Amino acid sequence: MARPARVFTVAIDGPAAAGKGTVARALAARFGLGHLDTGLLYRAVAAKGGDPVAAARDLVAADLERDDLRTLAAGQAASRVAVIPQVRAALVAFQRRFARREGGAVLDGRDIGTVICPEAEVKLYVTASPEVRAHRRWLELGGDEAEVLAEVLARDARDIGRAAAPLAAAADAVVLDTSVMTIDEAVAEAERIVGAALV
Ligand code: DC
Repeated sequence: MARPARVFTVAIDGPAAAGKGTVARALAARFGLGHLDTGLLYRAVAAKGGDPVAAARDLVAADLERDDLRTLAAGQAASRVAVIPQVRAALVAFQRRFARREGGAVLDGRDIGTVICPEAEVKLYVTASPEVRAHRRWLELGGDEAEVLAEVLARDARDIGRAAAPLAAAADAVVLDTSVMTIDEAVAEAERIVGAALV
């Protein structure tokens, strides 16, 4: 296994259910990097209820352990609090510290390569068509597939359309489109890119 440099950040962005979490976890395991799923921060802020700005400022590690953070509703609620600039601002320092931790880190989210870590050594943008992503979410969570697609499209619109740190590929990100490759192929390609950056 290649040894990570002391400080080495892999930034992974992309829309919901594109496979970025799977790619991030695989890279973390393969190269011994810390992994932060930044969507969990926004999910936890929304789940705390009350004033989202106060919830973001007071967020603690235990808030990320709740077992109700992975649902479609939690994702929608996260996307709503994520438009608030003061919520985003309250979460920046923690993410940047994690990104530059010793031993290296991989962070996945919406604005990692563009805003949180523009200096990341590797930037990936993992995407797929809305239909492919909705089908995957539906296989995971069940329910009505048309409704899942509507939720995916609504979340895309909010994440891409917001003024503060909208979802976008950094100009220097490598795009992995998992509608035309399997997740395994995307993981293999991501491992190749990170391995090459580490030598
Ligand atoms: O990755 P996820 O589905 O867990 O993210 C949930 C929501 O959180 C997403 O719709 C928008 C928001 N989010 C964000 O604005 N910035 C991030 N870096 C990560 C997530």
